Amino acid sequence: MKYFLTGGAGFIGSHISERLLMDEETKKVIIYDNFSSNTRHNLDFIKDARLEVYEADITDIDELGKRLTSEIDIVFHLAANPDISKAESNPTLDFHQGTVLTNNLLEVIRKNNIKKIIYTSGSGVYGDKDEDFDENYGPLVPISPYAANKIASEALISAYSHMFDIYARVFRFANVVGKRQTHGVGYDFIHKLNKNKNKLEVLGDGNQCKSYIHIDDIIEGIFSVIDSDVNTLYDVYNITTNDSITVKEIAKIALEVNGTVDTVINYSGGDRGWNGDVPKIKFNSNKIRTRYKWENRYSSIDAIKKSLREILVDAKNG
Ligand SMILES: NC(=O)c1ccc[n+]([C@@H]2O[C@H](COP(=O)([O-])OP(=O)(O)OC[C@H]3O[C@@H](n4cnc5c(N)ncnc54)[C@H](O)[C@@H]3O)[C@@H](O)[C@H]2O)c1
Repeated sequence: MKYFLTGGAGFIGSHISERLLMDEETKKVIIYDNFSSNTRHNLDFIKDARLEVYEADITDIDELGKRLTSEIDIVFHLAANPDISKAESNPTLDFHQGTVLTNNLLEVIRKNNIKKIIYTSGSGVYGDKDEDFDENYGPLVPISPYAANKIASEALISAYSHMFDIYARVFRFANVVGKRQTHGVGYDFIHKLNKNKNKLEVLGDGNQCKSYIHIDDIIEGIFSVIDSDVNTLYDVYNITTNDSITVKEIAKIALEVNGTVDTVINYSGGDRGWNGDVPKIKFNSNKIRTRYKWENRYSSIDAIKKSLREILVDAKNG
């Protein structure tokens, strides 16, 4: 099998690449990344001749067409602006570095007759709703351009899937944490503490309460679906834990992991970190649990503890 990953050098993409290369059946893994949210060094740990890395931008559709050819069996689409808060100063970013990328990719997939795409969406599509819901919940009311792009990209993928007979799976993740994380609350805390161990500035009142899922559980979830689910053309799966944790609790754990429990924590106030942030999220993964017997290994608190230790190691290694 030959695989192509947009944004494959990123946090989630590097873990998917690692997993694909563990399989002897894998002939090639092509990463197409402009390194806008990290560097090529993120992939240094992979020593495998089957890995090809191209530094290029998906907005360059001609270059994309040269690299993503008909030999590819499955495309994983991860490239996008990962930072929700950036839209406060640049509201069109998620359209240009999100929806346009998905549209370009789908056109190349269609023209080159590629038949499988996997897309990484998120819980943001459900909007600002503090209720327990599954994949059938609607209407979807996004409160950030980041989430609007996710819905638009899902819609385009669904349209191309049905019109051009392309197998597509969309995964809506909770907050993903772990080794090689490039953003997120735990990442933010560890990097702030690195700069100033006496005071930790926390966005919001600390009562934001969300589910955090470890990258190892995400990888198991994705592969449990795509390794066995071939009957329907298009489908959507939530991947989340059954529990949640507050930002206040995460800040306390960050100080423990960092070995600086006396650090003063300062909360900026307000119910959310920034405009567009969804402060309380509850959604469930009953579909993937029931169909594929997938279970998360780490609860939100365990995922946070493990990831903070991993982020600390990443930060020390530069
Ligand atoms: N991390 C999470 O908690 C989470 C949750 C839900 C969904 N997602 C989605 O999963 C995907 C991957 O997220 P991540 O956390 O690994 O982020 P990341 O920033 O680590 O990875 C994104 C990668 O895409 C690349 N990229 C961005 N724009 C590009 C472009 N125009 N051309 C080529 N490459 C480009 C970046 O350089 C980066 O390597 C994103 O679409 C994100 O929205 C992430």
